[in-house]
Amino acid sequence: MKRAIIITGGAGFIGSHVVRLFVNKYPEYKIINLDKLTYAGNLANLKDVEGKPNYKFVKMDICDFEGVYKLMQDEHVDGIIHLAAESHVDRSIKDPFTFAQTNVMGTLSLLQAAKLYWESLPEKWEGKRFYHISTDEVYGALELTHPQGIEPPFSTKASSGKHHLAYGDKFFTEDLKYLPHSPYSAAKAASDHFVRAYHDTYGMPTVVTNCSNNYGPYQFPEKLIPLFINNIRHKKPLPVYGKGENVRDWLYVEDHARAIDLIFHEGKIAETYNIGGFNEWKNIDLIKVLINTVDRLLGRAEGEDLNLITYVTDRAGHDMRYAIDSSKLQKELGWEPSLQFEEGIEKTVRWYLENQDWMDNVTSGDYQKYYEEMYKGR
Ligand code: NAD
Ligand code: TYD
Repeated sequence: MKRAIIITGGAGFIGSHVVRLFVNKYPEYKIINLDKLTYAGNLANLKDVEGKPNYKFVKMDICDFEGVYKLMQDEHVDGIIHLAAESHVDRSIKDPFTFAQTNVMGTLSLLQAAKLYWESLPEKWEGKRFYHISTDEVYGALELTHPQGIEPPFSTKASSGKHHLAYGDKFFTEDLKYLPHSPYSAAKAASDHFVRAYHDTYGMPTVVTNCSNNYGPYQFPEKLIPLFINNIRHKKPLPVYGKGENVRDWLYVEDHARAIDLIFHEGKIAETYNIGGFNEWKNIDLIKVLINTVDRLLGRAEGEDLNLITYVTDRAGHDMRYAIDSSKLQKELGWEPSLQFEEGIEKTVRWYLENQDWMDNVTSGDYQKYYEEMYKGR
């Protein structure tokens, strides 16, 4: 095998797309999916790659420093793509300790295991890479603005030079100071700082990326898009936080996975890259697109389910607007999102409607038996 790469959190939403891409695209690499299988980890997300000779699953907690160190030694690991994390803001508000443990201590445990193993080799850091996947939420929240009294969204251009619709005139760029608000984003921010510290202090070849909100198949239905698609299908209420005016910047998950592939191979050491498709949506507008798409695909009358919209108490500390400026990635490495949002949403809604078994398994909790059935005795 040309390389051995650990992908942490590979049984989760984004991780499963990254594992699938790497296993299929690089038969000469050994891809090791290291995942603790928390409630968010589901090996059924990876059924199609399970039998491939270059794929291996290891059930392990990233906080298990000795286990990670031994795995790196046994498999001669030269790259880590780190996605494992507690990822849901609402859960972080209820249980911040778990977020600090996994996102901060877990990242530190991986960094230290990689440091000790790579430093013990004759070639040391050469040919090694620690790639940490982070979020735009570490930058804090942007405002909705009305330049010259124009009601957002208005046409603007970030430093990409291309026009797009935006809800404000500021964007998250890589040089911004971190200002996280939620326990989730605070824990992610702390982990990003540790990754940079390992480069600056020990010389570890690291790279960090901060991506906007992802959507697509296999996302756990606690997050807005899969939760609402499933609720619309079953005519259950859609709990819209506050007035539904918060803005998120959405990227199709496979476009994130392609960016990760590119940056893992060609990104500059010690750099940070923002990943996003200049695609801002006000929650309530996005929810209406979801309702219309589900209704159309199920042959229901247009707008039939708009009455499911239910305004509920706002999330504590709810960030108003996220908007990523990904010009650096686009200019330096030539990455572009491949899908228009309308296409991506149509594909996503179709996938959830056609994969009701996956959704039923996840909502019933049965998916957690999959590991026992598939991996027992291996
Ligand atoms: P997810 O919650 O769907 O999956 C997380 C995975 O990590 C699961 O498979 C889980 O079992 C595993 N995991 C959790 N704790 C672990 C531990 N202690 N040891 C080993 N494995 C553990 O998350 P996601 O949405 O796929 O996000 C993946 C990464 O991308 C996270 O680091 C997140 O911060 C980042 N990110 C997510 C988004 C998004 O919109 N979802 C956007 C930008 C960045
Ligand atoms: P979410 O998918 O949790 O992602 P994040 O908080 O990381 O951006 O939420 C996306 C947006 O949707 C966010 O502004 C909160 C809002 N939201 C609701 O209004 N209702 C819900 O039930 C959920 C889960 C989210």
